Amino acid sequence: MTARIAGIGAYVPETIVTNDDLAKIVETSDEWISSRTGIRERRISTKEGTSDLAAEAARRALEAAGVKPEELDLIILGTSSPDCNYPSGACEVQAKIGAVNAAAFDISAACSGFIFAMNIVQGFFKSGIYQTALIIGAETLSKVVDWDDRSTCVLFGDGAGAAVLKNEESGIIDMLMGSDGTKGEALKCTSRSLGNFLTGERPELGFMTMDGQEVFRFAVKRVPESIESLIKRNQTAKEDIRYYILHQANERIVEAVARRLKEPMDKFPMIIEKYGNTSTASIPLLLDDMVKKGMLKAGDKIILSGFGAGMTWGAVLLEW
Ligand code: COA
Repeated sequence: MTARIAGIGAYVPETIVTNDDLAKIVETSDEWISSRTGIRERRISTKEGTSDLAAEAARRALEAAGVKPEELDLIILGTSSPDCNYPSGACEVQAKIGAVNAAAFDISAACSGFIFAMNIVQGFFKSGIYQTALIIGAETLSKVVDWDDRSTCVLFGDGAGAAVLKNEESGIIDMLMGSDGTKGEALKCTSRSLGNFLTGERPELGFMTMDGQEVFRFAVKRVPESIESLIKRNQTAKEDIRYYILHQANERIVEAVARRLKEPMDKFPMIIEKYGNTSTASIPLLLDDMVKKGMLKAGDKIILSGFGAGMTWGAVLLEW
């Protein structure tokens, strides 16, 4: 038995912020942003929190799967911009959708969160503990980026994507995940829990900081390596892989990965132009877009691949 994606759902806030809009706030330009990243616009949440976006994506995934909220055994939310430290965003989603029988918790694996959540569910399914799970990637990174820092604020966007997973005969073939904590400084956002009893220092809200080139180098090395390893250990031919669905961080990273894998760009669908980097939401947002466009057929072999802060990375080989 293995995890199968039974339904996908996505939701983004309605406010669109273009590169030209950002050029009014920081010293940047549409030309700089789009040529270096492929991003033209992003969605920004002004009214909703991460759990609101997550709950709406979850409702849509449940509807697509034909699964009732009370049938869920487990809810895992991957996020690095939760509304609260606790309760977890997953518990907030549980309350919003009425998934009364589910255990719910968040995981922190940044942009690899959706892939890590899938790995965790697979463990529960393989051991026979649960049969039906909801995984969600949701972010309101607009609330943690420093809007005075042009090197990061232009890259990210808000959104949510969700998948209902069922324990079935076919679906996920193999998966892996990895971490390198020694590179943690490359992409960081400190939490509010930095108060100090002795000095009286009070917690402050941290902002995201990033060494863009370090992250770039990490991604173009780790992502192809992990995909190659997944392909090799499953004796799968690259010709049999229909699509590589990569975390949407930067068009140039996707192009570099395609070059290293010696695979054509038409196997690498992208939505970064419309949404920017939505972190852990980007893979399910892209999957949802592909489902709506009818790009995925039953039996297609695809690879999902995420990477992000931690540093973390993960990949999944599955049959649609
Ligand atoms: N607009 C205009 N200029 C900008 C800018 C912006 N938004 N952001 C940075 N610059 C400037 C820099 O200040 C620098 O100027 P200088 O040469 O006068 O010092 C110049 O552009 C080049 O900066 P650099 O950081 O070398 O650019 P880059 O070509 O490496 O591109 C990134 C920057 C962030 C696009 C690139 O490093 C990247 O994509 N990294 C990966 C980031 C990522 O994906 N993070 C999320 C992972 S989940």
